[in-house]
Amino acid sequence: MATSLESILQELEDVQRSFDTEIAGTVEPAALEAVRVKYLGRKGQVAAFFKKMAGLDPEQRPQLGERLNTLKGHFQSDLEQRKLKFSRNGGQSEGALYLTLPGIAPAVGFRNPLLTVMDEVKQIFGNMGFTVRMGPLVETEYYNFEALNVPDDHPAKDLQDTFYLQNDFLLRTHTSPVQIRTMQNEQPPIRIIAPGRCFRKDTPDATHSPEFHQVEGLVVGEGISLAHLKGTLIAFARQLFGDETQVRFLPSFFPFTEPSAEMDIYFDDRLGWLEILGSGMVDPNVFERVGIDYERYTGFAFGMGIERIAMLKYQINDIRHFYEDDIRFLRQF
Ligand code: PHE
Repeated sequence: MATSLESILQELEDVQRSFDTEIAGTVEPAALEAVRVKYLGRKGQVAAFFKKMAGLDPEQRPQLGERLNTLKGHFQSDLEQRKLKFSRNGGQSEGALYLTLPGIAPAVGFRNPLLTVMDEVKQIFGNMGFTVRMGPLVETEYYNFEALNVPDDHPAKDLQDTFYLQNDFLLRTHTSPVQIRTMQNEQPPIRIIAPGRCFRKDTPDATHSPEFHQVEGLVVGEGISLAHLKGTLIAFARQLFGDETQVRFLPSFFPFTEPSAEMDIYFDDRLGWLEILGSGMVDPNVFERVGIDYERYTGFAFGMGIERIAMLKYQINDIRHFYEDDIRFLRQF
């Protein structure tokens, strides 16, 4: 009994539909090749239909033949186009870019909050016209102490506080030597900050670290007064901690400034007043050592510990967190 042309054409519709669905679902060249074999291969679906021609009335055979050839052509061009799309997406061999798949977020590092605070401090002083100077971490006795008017018997020079290296070198215990280097190299007016690492022989605990960071400041010019020091530092504190921040200055002592003052901020009702920096008017002895005319020029200097400020700002209770590179700590900022 002859197979009906009608039912064969009906089956062909189904084959075409499943071809369309399958090819649309391919995401890589290998899958595309599987579809090609399934439909156009030697033992594929289209070949099977050619075999069915034998069961048709002879006069119906050309009609099916023509239909099959058209279908074959469609399949071939669809496969070709799909292949082109893959290679345009860069997936020539390994696999195509599957545009609708959600992306994989790359693991990224986190910035140490210390650097963020350091940048903020630089930004605030930068806006006030300060420029940045850097100095070496390995210093000499002269720059770290002597030029800063620190007497020989000062406790800071103690072997217990300072890391001494060979040949009279040492690790700087503060950023103040950059004041000296700047004044040796530049003429007033001077308006600089010097951020950087410092070292002291402290046993690590929640508030001490043998390595820490300071930002130094120095202003030298004609007519620079204590009012400039106060105005500058109050403006700084309010930008860093908020417009309403209360500030007070208390008398203090440093060998390289006279008079000297610590600046406190009122932090909150629990912690009360907290010291955030040391400051003072540049001591004439220091000017004399670097050859600046202290009859003509005056200046002020200040220095602050960045760890302490970052701990206050971000409510960090242990200084050691800054150096442990623990991603669980760093990702919080
Ligand atoms: N160098 C001082 C310290 O480490 C801070 C300071 C700097 C004080 C500049 C006054 C002027 O404590």
